[in-house]
Amino acid sequence: MNKVTVLGSLNVDTILRFKRFPKPGETLPLTGKGIAGGGKGANQAIAAARAGADTTFIGKVGQDQEGDFMVKQLTESGVNDQYVQHSDAANTGSAFIMLDSSSENRILIDGGTNQQVTADDVELAKPAIIASDFLIAQFETPQAATIHGFELAHAANKTTILNPAPATKTVPTELLAVTDLIVPNETETETLTGVHITDEHSMIKGAEKLQALGVKTVIITVGSKGAFWMRGTDHGFVPAYKVNALDTTAAGDTFIGALSSVLKTDFSNLSEAVRLANRASSLAVQKLGAQPSIPTKAEIEQAERA
Ligand code: RIB
Ligand code: NA
Repeated sequence: MNKVTVLGSLNVDTILRFKRFPKPGETLPLTGKGIAGGGKGANQAIAAARAGADTTFIGKVGQDQEGDFMVKQLTESGVNDQYVQHSDAANTGSAFIMLDSSSENRILIDGGTNQQVTADDVELAKPAIIASDFLIAQFETPQAATIHGFELAHAANKTTILNPAPATKTVPTELLAVTDLIVPNETETETLTGVHITDEHSMIKGAEKLQALGVKTVIITVGSKGAFWMRGTDHGFVPAYKVNALDTTAAGDTFIGALSSVLKTDFSNLSEAVRLANRASSLAVQKLGAQPSIPTKAEIEQAERA
């Protein structure tokens, strides 16, 4: 069983569903409204744990009901919450997810306590990091904390996975220097490399640019199309499972968490791990909400047999 530590965000997601976006000055009714656990970090941890990994989370919530709610989502899925701190410096993070009938989402975020995660917090969690196979992080918590975590992991010969989301134009070179695998989607790839992702040729070009920044192994997720991987000069495209998407929120997070539950630390099974991660995210997009939609190992296995 892989041991995975995820450093990252927790958000209470408010989901607003409607047929189309209102025009300026226009008022429209919602077609649905809901609350669910979210945040890229917590989603990835829950995806890893549900897929069977022994998972620990490093992050920060507020001293509020939302914080208790988020911790409950983690622990109910079997994620170790020992390194989740409760801070009175801010409120628990929240996200507002707007879903029109196209199932493609738009998200607004109030970072809250996610923005208060420090390198010292990560230092406290060193025992978990050095006992893990993988350390995973995203960009919804401060990069200084991520750099420290990845440096601790590397000093202990552990493997690091960076999901550079939400998109940023640059990643600090000291972070790339300690990143083993980078997993952007097509938008994030374009933002980082300037390469517009359309076909396999552009994916190779984008991945080569990411490798030139210092990360040897790259996976570019391309939504309903599938995912492209590149390790050295070896590469391949793994098509997605065709399903009817209802809500793509947390599809990428599910992909990364599920990937980490089966990936070998030498990346020797990269292509097969990507295929299984595609399977997990194909299940997540068929349900509403981030964390409620993340499949369990049993659900993944059932879909594999079907
Ligand atoms: O990746 C999806 C997540 O992004 C949502 O759960 C929302 O909280 C935002 O952080
Ligand atoms: Na979903």
